[in-house]
Amino acid sequence: MDKRGKFIVIDGMDGSGKGTQIKLLQAKLARPDVLFTREPGGSPLGEEIREMLLRTEGNPRNPIADFFLFFASRGSHIEDIVTPAREKGAHVISDRYASSTYAFQVYGEEHHELLALFDAVMNSLDKNKYWPDLYIILDLPGEMAYERRSKDAAQAKSGFDLKPLAYHERTREGFKAFARDYGPVEFVDASRTPEEIHADVWRILSRELAL
Ligand code: TYD
Repeated sequence: MDKRGKFIVIDGMDGSGKGTQIKLLQAKLARPDVLFTREPGGSPLGEEIREMLLRTEGNPRNPIADFFLFFASRGSHIEDIVTPAREKGAHVISDRYASSTYAFQVYGEEHHELLALFDAVMNSLDKNKYWPDLYIILDLPGEMAYERRSKDAAQAKSGFDLKPLAYHERTREGFKAFARDYGPVEFVDASRTPEEIHADVWRILSRELAL
């Protein structure tokens, strides 16, 4: 019998309420055999890379640099944290993963020239380690993502990165395209209330982890 823990990703569009869903899961799954992690980050090196990626001032964006920084963080996260935990029998739930690189860097930022690179990287990695057992992706119409983000921006400090509607539409398309080639993915309709979304996420997760 395979005693390795499972590797599950929770990902989703901006404004999908992913943060709330992760908090609800953390409250329900506060047990030693479940580890919550995040990307970028999740390991000491990953967290250092996260700071570089999220620091905007004096840091012009460059698609190749960002792409490799996200994957550098990912490599450290998998090798240093996810795989050792799974080998001890713990389940790992990651807040974002490769699906985000595909949806945001490739589709959202319109760097389709990265597609071949993304595919080469994903397919040359050890699938037992780098391919999650399941991605749960919170999906909503681009318009709703845009509206929710605009509301957040109105409440936030200046400098908040407000993306146009078309960007959210592209990221949605990116998550759908990702699911076709790199799944398994289960989409959850995130246009509903947090409770309704949670009920679906929980049903999928408890089935997958045999809780
Ligand atoms: P975070 O503050 O954790 O945002 P969120 O609550 O939306 O998850 O910052 C993570 C940001 O990094 C988020 O904007 C999505 C982005 N990201 C990418 O663009 N590509 C990636 O591969 C990953 C993992 C994250």
